[in-house]
Amino acid sequence: MRSALVVPAAGRGDRLGADRPKALVPLAGVPLLVHALRRATASGVVDVVVVVAPAGACDEVRELLAPVVADAVVVPGGAERQDSVRAGLAALPEDVDVVLVHDAARCLTPAPVFAAVVAAVRAGAPGVVPVVPVSDTVKRVAGERVVETVDRSELAAVQTPQGFSAPVLRAVHAAAPPGASVTDDAGMLEALGHPVVTVPGDERAFKVTRPLDLLLAEALLDREVAP
Ligand code: CTP
Ligand code: MG
Repeated sequence: MRSALVVPAAGRGDRLGADRPKALVPLAGVPLLVHALRRATASGVVDVVVVVAPAGACDEVRELLAPVVADAVVVPGGAERQDSVRAGLAALPEDVDVVLVHDAARCLTPAPVFAAVVAAVRAGAPGVVPVVPVSDTVKRVAGERVVETVDRSELAAVQTPQGFSAPVLRAVHAAAPPGASVTDDAGMLEALGHPVVTVPGDERAFKVTRPLDLLLAEALLDREVAP
């Protein structure tokens, strides 16, 4: 059986405000998407790659990826992230038993995180998420009024790659009502009662969302010893 990687890369990147879709924004001269795929494939646990590209940029993405993952399948994305994930799932071969879903925007996620997530799925978890501790104090608020302080020891910030048993992920996507608003794939499993477990994430797996994140990513790349 084989492990597949689905990379949602079809977002506009409104909060980054660049002159092109976020996944194609260069970081040290190389698009975020290419950084993400280099690290994912270096893990050695990915057999099949499906990239969900901005509609209209599929050919450009195929050209970019040719030297990185020669046999990547590139499909156009949809309006919301979950539409893009669904388009990626639909392009997967039948013989895939583990699926990783990884945001192109988490472009510096180190390779060992991918291996840890796949290992946890193969050990029997239907869903796996990498997590890091929440460092800020978090409060529940109503307008400008603080309602309460949330116990931070119960909180975790969730990253990608998220890993899934392929049949379970296919089933929860098929069961989701069209237009349902969900922020991550693991949440869809949780909603249907499927167990989701955590593995340690990595600070470097932060999501490039705003211009400041791009500066941080550039600084990290500058200091990286390995290519
Ligand atoms: N994504 C996608 N299809 C969409 C929306 C998002 O494939 N319709 C992808 C993005 O390309 C990104 C990941 O989902 O790799 C996480 O989304 P986010 O960080 O929100 O990226 P964008 O939607 O591009 O950014 P913004 O919300 O600022 O527009
Ligand atoms: Mg978005």
